[in-house]
Amino acid sequence: MKQEYNFSRRFFLKTSSALGALAFIPKGVKAFYEEVKNFIVPKKEQLPLTVSINKKSYAIKADTRTTLLDLLREDLNLTGAKKGCDHGQCGACTVHIDGERALSCLTLAAMVPGKEVTTIEGLANGDKLHPMQEAFIECDGFQCGYCTPGQIMSAVACVKEGHTKSVAEIKEFMSGNLCRCGAYNGIVESIQKVAAK
Ligand code: FES
Ligand code: FES
Repeated sequence: MKQEYNFSRRFFLKTSSALGALAFIPKGVKAFYEEVKNFIVPKKEQLPLTVSINKKSYAIKADTRTTLLDLLREDLNLTGAKKGCDHGQCGACTVHIDGERALSCLTLAAMVPGKEVTTIEGLANGDKLHPMQEAFIECDGFQCGYCTPGQIMSAVACVKEGHTKSVAEIKEFMSGNLCRCGAYNGIVESIQKVAAK
């Protein structure tokens, strides 16, 4: 059915005078608003970056606001680190930067040139799994596996940091990594196993 519009003469007069008024905004005022807009909404800027991930160098261009997690997953197809909350609350995105654990969802890609990033993909030595990966398999340290890459990266760091003196200490230093499947007992056991070696 054809839609009928019923614009009044008053509507046309109002609209045309409003549009006409826009043409008379002084250039200075327009420029001011343009400046404010640019300040509030930063322009997308592509930054050339050279990053080293799992000992491989990548020369890329990334938006200045790109997080390391998005760079890994969306641009480099390294999807091991998971996006759980994207707000620094779940630990699913944990990677190592220069050997220290870091949340890649809270790290800008522009912050990592000159540093070595290790993701779960870089933990094994060729076909030989990292001892922590083996321990997770042996001790049932996972169920669905979604949190597992982040858990393993944190677990490796936890052992390296020496925070394995008791179950309570392990739990405290692994508390930034959440597991919705509740595989915590197996995770703690895996860490104890590796720490005892
Ligand atoms: S995705 Fe980074 S902490 Fe949750
Ligand atoms: S194994 Fe499923 S969320 Fe941890």
